[in-house]
Amino acid sequence: MNADEMKRSAAARAMDFVEDGMRLGLGTGSTAAYFVDMLGERVKSGLNVTCVPTSEVTEKQARGLGIPLAGLDDLRVLDLTVDGADELDAELRLIKGGGGALLREKIVAMASEQLIIISDQSKLVETLGAFPLPVEVVAFGLTTTQAMIELLAADVGCLGPISLRKTPGGEVFVTDGGHYILDCAFGSIPDPEVLDDALKMIPGVVESGLFIGIADMAIVAGTQSVRELKAEDLQEEDEG
Ligand code: A5P
Repeated sequence: MNADEMKRSAAARAMDFVEDGMRLGLGTGSTAAYFVDMLGERVKSGLNVTCVPTSEVTEKQARGLGIPLAGLDDLRVLDLTVDGADELDAELRLIKGGGGALLREKIVAMASEQLIIISDQSKLVETLGAFPLPVEVVAFGLTTTQAMIELLAADVGCLGPISLRKTPGGEVFVTDGGHYILDCAFGSIPDPEVLDDALKMIPGVVESGLFIGIADMAIVAGTQSVRELKAEDLQEEDEG
């Protein structure tokens, strides 16, 4: 299987968890887009679901496929969200936000009874951080916020260039929420929980791309087979 086939097979496995009548969160990115396509097919065949997209891009895709949409404030609680990730580790800690949708993705994920992450095996890493960590920030005081991130991150062993995300055309990238993104190329994040706590202390930080303790399952497709990592198994390991 090539990378696209792996993404598609992870998405197909996630479809098995969708039940009639569910309220679903729809993720953002190329892997989540496969899931949305498959969901569209099922809706055409009569599946009844109501969905909340995590970005304007996903909203456009879902609308085009005739998938019934609602606002998160209308539904309040979702049964299941299926989303991609930029990196994940064996403890189901994630880096997200490569597509710039991390804030809505985290809001939707936290409103969901279950979060299933779908990915190909290249995203599964021993230590998070090779993928630059996206941090969503407000425009006001950008330089000050960046300096604070540098300082607090260095305190917890994370060093590396931090850059303001730009569009391919060279404009500053603006998120769906009207904020900026700082991509933090730390190379490795020795203690993601501690870094996440540090980032939350900075007033100009809206949200970090670290998703810790949120995912219930990751479906990771390899060239030969599809693996499932489950949060409940991690808890059992801790207790045992
Ligand atoms: C979007 O903001 C991200 O969190 C995506 O979930 C992530 O970038 C994965 O995208 P791909 O499936 O395209 O790799």
